[in-house]
Amino acid sequence: MTFSRAIKIAPSILSADFANFGAECEAIEAQGADWVHVDVMDGHFVPNITFGPATCAAIRKHVKGVMDVHLMIAPVDPYIEAFARSGADIITAHLEAGPHIHRTLQAIRAHGVKAGLALNPGTGPEAVLHLLDMVDLICVMTVNPGFGGQKFIHSQVDKVRSLREMIGDRPIHIEIDGGVTAQTAPLVAAAGADVLVAGSAVFTGGSGADPAPYGANSAAIRRAAEAAKLN
Ligand code: DX5
Ligand code: ZN
Repeated sequence: MTFSRAIKIAPSILSADFANFGAECEAIEAQGADWVHVDVMDGHFVPNITFGPATCAAIRKHVKGVMDVHLMIAPVDPYIEAFARSGADIITAHLEAGPHIHRTLQAIRAHGVKAGLALNPGTGPEAVLHLLDMVDLICVMTVNPGFGGQKFIHSQVDKVRSLREMIGDRPIHIEIDGGVTAQTAPLVAAAGADVLVAGSAVFTGGSGADPAPYGANSAAIRRAAEAAKLN
């Protein structure tokens, strides 16, 4: 994975057909997705449950590109090996998921996987100050984690700007997760984000039988972001 700050669209399969993840992943990649965003939820860190490492391993066989695994679980450390074995290219843990985030990031990288750090809306950018050499990606939650289809939290745009300044020219992606649409994408792209996770905005109007809307929706988000992107 060579580093580039070009805009990347990462559809979240939280909005996909849960009975057909394989076909859905193949469809979104065929329709232009750059990454596949896999939302793991444990019903403890967030008030929702999705799936675990076994489902990620099954999905892996249908993902040609980057499998971007977002762990909304606590604790994280006992499950890192299982998600690494499942074939994740990136494993993102929440800073708020436990007391030892530095150790968690070390453990993710020790398994040869890129390390991501997710910040809930209430966590300030200064939280990453002593972790910049431990991460390959910072995920800014622009909704409270747990569900798709929520409203974008506009106050997070300033956080993106601050993070972009703090990162400088380090090879660290800024990922935006939650409420990303063709309307909100330009706001975060202009502030310095490069990876845009979108669930409902990509999957809306499409289906396994008719995946064309997945492509049109992704292209609209990409166009809007690229037109506004910080160089
Ligand atoms: C929410 C997840 C997001 C979510 C995004 O906890 O982390 O990835 O699926 O869904 P939309 O794009 O519908 O807000
Ligand atoms: Zn996510």
